[in-house]
Amino acid sequence: MAQSLFLGIETSCDESAAAVLSGGVVLSSLISSQTEIHAPFGGVVPELAARRHEQTLMPIVEDAMATAGVQYRNLHAIAVTRGPGLVGALVVGVAAARALGLVANCPVYGVNHLEAHVLSSFLEHEDLMPPTVCLLVSGGHTMIVHVRDIGDYVVLGETVDDAVGEAYDKVARYLGLGFPGGPPVDRLSAKGDPTALQLPRPMIHDGLHMSFSGLKTATVRAVAARPDVTNEDVSASFVAATIDVLRAKVRAAVRATQVPSLCIGGGVAASGPLRDAMQALAQEEGIACFLPPRSMCTDNAAMIAHAAYRLAAVGLADENVEVEPGLPLVRKG
Ligand code: KG4
Ligand code: ZN
Repeated sequence: MAQSLFLGIETSCDESAAAVLSGGVVLSSLISSQTEIHAPFGGVVPELAARRHEQTLMPIVEDAMATAGVQYRNLHAIAVTRGPGLVGALVVGVAAARALGLVANCPVYGVNHLEAHVLSSFLEHEDLMPPTVCLLVSGGHTMIVHVRDIGDYVVLGETVDDAVGEAYDKVARYLGLGFPGGPPVDRLSAKGDPTALQLPRPMIHDGLHMSFSGLKTATVRAVAARPDVTNEDVSASFVAATIDVLRAKVRAAVRATQVPSLCIGGGVAASGPLRDAMQALAQEEGIACFLPPRSMCTDNAAMIAHAAYRLAAVGLADENVEVEPGLPLVRKG
C-alpha cells in the first residue's frame, strides 16, 4: 500500500482536474479551471461545464501522468468523483475513469466529493487522526462533520439554505466583484471595517444548523441603504458576520463531541480570516487545529485520489462508480 500509485479525476463542477499520488504523497496535481467561461453568467452553466470537461479532461490527465513520470500500466487504482455535483460534468469524469481503468487494468473507485473535502486536512498532516470535527465550507455545501473514523461520519449540522461560498459569491456579484466571489471578498475584507454595517448573525444560538441566505439578503439591503459604503467595508462586515456564526457552531460541536482537534475543508477554507479564526478557536478550546494547504481547499483531484487511498487502506474504497448528483456524505450505521 505504501508505494501505491493512484490517479485521481475530478469533474463535479467547473474544474477539470487530475492528480497522481504515490503512497498518499502528491506527485502531480493539475487543474484546468473554466472560470472565464462561466464568469459572464455569474455562475456555473451546467451544459457549458460538461462540454468543456470533454475537451480538457484527457489532456489534463495526460499531463498529470507525464508530470508524475508514471505509466498507466503502473497505476494501482483510479479514483473519480461520482457525486455530488452536476450530472453532465460527473458523467464525463466517470466515463474517462472507466476507460482508463481498462487501459491500466486496475480498479476504479468512486469517490464522494464531500468526503474528499472532509479528508483534505489529512493529506499533509500525518499527526491528524480521527476522531475530529471538520467544518466543510464550499460553494455548494456547508456542514459540520464529526469524523468518528475514516469512512464514519456524522453530520452534526448543516446550512438550511445557502452554502457559505454561495453567499460569498452572491454578495460579490451584487458588488460587481466577479465570479467566483470568495477570493475578492476575502481580500477586500482585510482592508475594511467589520463594524461598518450592522449585519445579523443568523441562527447563532440555534443548535448546530446554520442559515446564510438571510445574511446575504441583509448585506445587499444594507448596501442599498448606504450607497456610499465601500466594498472593503461591506466585505469586512459580511466576513465578520459569517465567521462569528461559523466560530460559534464549531465551538459548540467540539465541546459536544469532546474531540482533540478540528479541521476544515472546501473552497472557503482558503479564506485567511476563517483560517485565523479556526486557529484561535482551537487554541481557546485547548485542542489542535489542522488546516489543509490552500491549494487543497478549492476543487482539485489530489483530494479525490487521497480520499480513495485512505479508504483503500482500511478496506473501504468502493468500486461503485455510478454517477449520483445528490450523493450525501456517507453515514455509517
Ligand atoms: O470547494 P469548492 O472549490 O467547490 C465546491 O465544491 O463548491 O468551493 C468553491 C467556493 C466558491 O463559492 C468560492 O467563492 C469559494 O469557494 N472560495 C473562497 C475563497 N476561495 C474560494 N471563499 C472565501 N475565501 C477564499 N479565499
Ligand atoms: Zn468542492
